[in-house]
Amino acid sequence: MQIRAAVLEEFATPLTVTTVDLAAPKAGEVLVRLKACGICHTDMYTASGVDPSGYAPCVLGHEGAGVVETVGEGVTSVVPGDHVVTLFSPQCGKCVNCLSGRTNICMAIREQQNLGYLPDGTARLSRDGEPLRHFMGCSTFAEATVVSEYSLAKISKDAPLATAALFACGLSTGLGAAMYKAPVFEGATVVVFGAGMVGLGAVAGARLQNAGRIICVDLSEDRLELARHHGATDTWIGGADTVDRVLEETDGYGADFTYEATGLVGVMQQAVEAARIGWGTCCVTGVAGKGETLDIVPRYLITGRTVMGASFGGVKSRDQVPLLIDRYLAGDIDADAFVSHRLSLDDVNKGFDLMHHQDGIRSVIEFS
Ligand code: CU
Ligand code: ZN
Repeated sequence: MQIRAAVLEEFATPLTVTTVDLAAPKAGEVLVRLKACGICHTDMYTASGVDPSGYAPCVLGHEGAGVVETVGEGVTSVVPGDHVVTLFSPQCGKCVNCLSGRTNICMAIREQQNLGYLPDGTARLSRDGEPLRHFMGCSTFAEATVVSEYSLAKISKDAPLATAALFACGLSTGLGAAMYKAPVFEGATVVVFGAGMVGLGAVAGARLQNAGRIICVDLSEDRLELARHHGATDTWIGGADTVDRVLEETDGYGADFTYEATGLVGVMQQAVEAARIGWGTCCVTGVAGKGETLDIVPRYLITGRTVMGASFGGVKSRDQVPLLIDRYLAGDIDADAFVSHRLSLDDVNKGFDLMHHQDGIRSVIEFS
């Protein structure tokens, strides 16, 4: 079939919205008709060419939500008509990592996904007979896509798909960090560094875990206002004195949990140092620049702090994304408030501009 899609032709150039070919799903694959797709920093990062693992040309986009149209041979987890969210973080349920239950980092399709192909090592996307690579196993800046069934979470049909798309990436990352990877205990003091999509998700997750105090730190008053809406009890403008301030307000001990959601290694260091002596946990979710390292004075470790990180917030995607969306439907998470702009596919580059200017939390492309 022919579809319209946003193609990254060359790094550091605007995406081109054009017609490409999409082949039918093979065994284990699913064709999804997309209804919405969030525009994420990771898409922009790849488009910029700064990410050393990026490749072009490809069809970008990974925060998709849509409806299953056809399924390939052997697919059992979804049927045509099911509502789904695409998963850059797949879950096969059968690999050594999935079977362990200890991690959400599935190995089944990882290698080919990183190269821009579906699990059998080929692409379903093409143009003029030339294969076009897939992005993060998703390629959702497109009217339709073919993905592995491991890359789809089946969700409630009650969820509006523009909002459901946010659970494909940033929002679930933040929620998962606070609920699954480093689960906040009742009454805990929490500090969240960064009030973008991920940080706000961590704020909401900490609230759902019944944290006692949720301090959110950011440089933007507008974002801190949102943080209060989602459950922050204290909001601070960040600076060199943030760690001292955390210590001062916790009788010198530090916070039970700190979540870093900026990708800045200097802020990660603050998150480590703001964690409580004895049992504080620092969970890093931001992606640092290539070659950057995180400095930790070992004394912070031997005095009882745990430093950990999570991809996709530790969320086991096919099992847990539907549960998080159910919490949204139950009214526990005001996810609609994160959708700041609704755009058409033709406006995808405008979405990048909005992100570049930090205008709003999430722009979502809607497909008619
Ligand atoms: Cu993303
Ligand atoms: Zn797996």
